Amino acid sequence: MTAGEQKKYVGARVSRVDGPAKVRGEATFAAEHDIPGALHAVLISAACAHGRISRLDTEAARQVPGVLDVFSYQSDGWKMNKLKGYPKGPAGTSLLPFQGPEISYRGEPVALVVAQTLEAARHAALLVETEYEQRPHHATLQAAMDGPLLARKPMPPLGHSRGNAGKVLKGAGHVTERTYDTPTQHHNPMEMHAVIADWDGDERVTIYEPTQWMQSAQGTLAAALGLEPENVHVVSPFVGGGFGSKATSWPHLLVTALAARTLRRPVKLVLTRAQMFAAVGYRAATRSEYRAALDGDRISALELHAHTQTGPADLFPEQVGTVPKMLYDTPNMEFKQTLVQTNAGPNIMMRAPGEASGSFGLEVLMDELAEAAGLDPLEFRRRNHADTDPESGKPFSSKHLLECYDRAAGAFGWQDRTPEPGSMKDGDTLIGWGMATATYPVYASAATARARLHADGRIDIEAGSHDIGTGTYSILAQIAADALGTDLDRVTVKLGDSRLPKNGYSGGSRTAGSVGSAVLAAAQGLRQELVDLAVNDPESPLHGAAPIDIEARDGALHAGTRTDTLSAVLTRAGKTQHEAYREIIPNGGGQKELDALKKGQDGMIQAVTDTHARYSFGAVFVEVRVDPDFMTPRVSRIVGAFDVGQVLNAKTAESQLTGGLIWGVSAALHEQGETDPATGLLLNSNLADYHIPVNADIREVRAITLEGHPDFHTSALGARGAGELGIVGTAAAIANAIHHATGKRIRSTPITVDKLLD
Ligand code: MOS
Repeated sequence: MTAGEQKKYVGARVSRVDGPAKVRGEATFAAEHDIPGALHAVLISAACAHGRISRLDTEAARQVPGVLDVFSYQSDGWKMNKLKGYPKGPAGTSLLPFQGPEISYRGEPVALVVAQTLEAARHAALLVETEYEQRPHHATLQAAMDGPLLARKPMPPLGHSRGNAGKVLKGAGHVTERTYDTPTQHHNPMEMHAVIADWDGDERVTIYEPTQWMQSAQGTLAAALGLEPENVHVVSPFVGGGFGSKATSWPHLLVTALAARTLRRPVKLVLTRAQMFAAVGYRAATRSEYRAALDGDRISALELHAHTQTGPADLFPEQVGTVPKMLYDTPNMEFKQTLVQTNAGPNIMMRAPGEASGSFGLEVLMDELAEAAGLDPLEFRRRNHADTDPESGKPFSSKHLLECYDRAAGAFGWQDRTPEPGSMKDGDTLIGWGMATATYPVYASAATARARLHADGRIDIEAGSHDIGTGTYSILAQIAADALGTDLDRVTVKLGDSRLPKNGYSGGSRTAGSVGSAVLAAAQGLRQELVDLAVNDPESPLHGAAPIDIEARDGALHAGTRTDTLSAVLTRAGKTQHEAYREIIPNGGGQKELDALKKGQDGMIQAVTDTHARYSFGAVFVEVRVDPDFMTPRVSRIVGAFDVGQVLNAKTAESQLTGGLIWGVSAALHEQGETDPATGLLLNSNLADYHIPVNADIREVRAITLEGHPDFHTSALGARGAGELGIVGTAAAIANAIHHATGKRIRSTPITVDKLLD
C-alpha cells in the first residue's frame, strides 16, 4: 500500500465475498452451466496397463435408444496435431486420445459414448466390449526400480552440488544412511473434473471447465485441433478445488470437444470419481536415499539420491530436492534425482509438489541426526539455521524462521517435553511431541488486471485468473477497496473467463502476490486518473489541490476538509464509467515474463532471482497419542507458525494454512494409492477405500501467522502466498512425534498400525 489509501480491508478477517452465492447455490460450477440441447458423454477408460486394443465392439452400445455415437480410435476425422508434453506444452500429457490402439497406462481414454441422456450414455458404456493384447508393464515405482523394462533417467538440471559431500562423508567417523519412502497420492477435489463444449461452427468453441489455468485449455485445444487460441473461449468462474489436478488440460477435454464438433451439438462430460484417480494426474511415489555426517552439532555433509516415479510418456519430476537443497546451512551438499518411468498414468504437481514429499525424508532425518547429536530437535535445527541461501549463496528476501520456531514452540509448550521416547504418558496412553520446519518457494508471474468505476460508485475488477477455493475473489476485492477507498460491497470481482485480462496458472501459491499486485496497480491507476480529473476540474471542490495531498476513503477523494465523491468526479466529466488496465512484471523478472504471458504461456519466475532467494517459512509442532496395545496413532494437537509476508486476509490465510496442516495429517497417517503390481489396477479408487482424515481425526489445529514482515522484494503487496506452505514438513513432524511416543522410527508414509506393530 502507498500513502493516500485506506487500510481497512487488507489483512483483516474478511469472510469470503463469494460465500453467500455458494451457500445459496448461485455460484455456477462448470458442469452446472445449463446449455440448451447439451448431450451427455461417458468416458470408457483402458482396463490394461500396457498393450494394445485387440477388440473394440461398440455395436450393442449404438443400439441403445438415445445413443448418438461411440467415438474411439476407429472414428473418422479424429486425427489431432501432436502436442509437446508438459512442461513444454500446456497439456498434462502428450499422449493424445483416440489416435491408435496402443495403451500406455490403465485409465487411458479408450472410447466416448454420447447420448441424449446421462442414463442412456451410462447404460451404453457398459455394453462396449474391449479386449487387450497385454504387454509387460511396471505400474509402481518399486516394480519399475526392480525391473528392466522402462527407462530410468537422471535429471541433470535438477541436481545440485556444493562443497564436496563425498569427500567429507568418506572421512567422517560416522555416516548416517537412511532411506525414506512416500507413496502415490491422488488429488480429489470435491468438484469433479468436467467439460462442456459448445461450438459455434467448426472454428469457435466455448469450453466450460473447472481449471487452474484457462490458457492451458485454450492452448491445448487450439494446438490439437488447429484453432486460433482466441477462438477458444474458456469459462471457469468457480473451481471446487484443484490442488494441481486442474493445472493442465487432460485428454478428456479433447475428446469432449471433438465429439461436440462432430455431432454439431453441445456435449457435457463429467468424470467419475474412479476416473479422477487415473485420468488427471497424481503425486508420484518417491524414494529418498540419504547419507549425512555430523561435525559436533552441525551437519557437515548431506547427500541425497532421490528416485521418483513418472508416467510412461512425459517426464515430470516430483521436485523432492527443492527443500533439502536449501533448508539447512550445510557446506557440503550433493543432490541427484532419477526419474523412473512407470505404466501408471502421467503424474503431475499436487499441492506442494516435491516439497511435501521431499520434506518428509529431510525432516525425519533431522530428528534422527538430532538424536545422534544428543540435542533437542528444535535446538539442533536452530544450530543448523541458514542465514543466507546455501544453494544460491544469495540473501533471503525476508526470513523469520527463528521467530516461527519461537512462536510455535511457545504456543505449543515445547519446553515441557522430556526427550526420552515413551517418557510422556497420559494414563496408559503414550504421548509424543515432534516438530519440523516448513518452507515453500515464492513463485511469481507477470499479471494483468482492469479496474472500472461506474457512475453509481460501483467498482468492477477484472482479471482472467481463478479462484480455486482459496479466496481469490475476496483478497482482490479487499485490495481494490483499500486502493480506491470504497466499501468492500461496492467492489465486484470478475474472474474465470479467458476474455478477461490475461493471467497465468493459479498454482505454486502465486495468485495472491501476482494477480493481487496487478489489481493493486489497476486500482491505483484508476484512482490516480480520477484524482487528475478532479484537481483539473474547476467545478470540483478539489480543484487545484496537489494530487499528493489527496486521500481516497469512504467512496470519496479528500484533501483536508474538501471532499469530492468518486461518482461526482465521473458524472461531472460526462462519463458513465472510467477504467484503467495495468500490466505488471513480477519483481525479479522482466519484460520476458510479460511477453510470455501475452502469448498464452505462463510468465512465471523461479524463487531465486538475480538479487534474492525467496521462500516462505514455518514451524510445525505436533502432539500424538498412541494406544500402547493397539498402537493406533492419533494427532491430538498441531500448532504451526508461519511467515508468509503481508497477510492479505487473516481468515482465508488461516484457512489455507490449516488446510495444509490437515493434509499433512492425511499424508502421515492415511493417504496412499494402492496399485496391484500384477494388473496395474488402482485398488482404492474411491473415497471409502482411499483414506483421508475425517472430522474425528482432526482435533486442535492452530495456524499462527507472523505479523510485521511484509516482503516487498517478492511483490508490491509484500505478500507471499499461503496455499502450500502448511503441508510441508507436517507429515515428518507427526512421524517424529510417533517416534517420541513409541520409540519406533517409521521411514515411510502413511504410518499405519501394521508398521507400528511390526
Ligand atoms: Mo498447485 S500443486 O501449485 O495447484
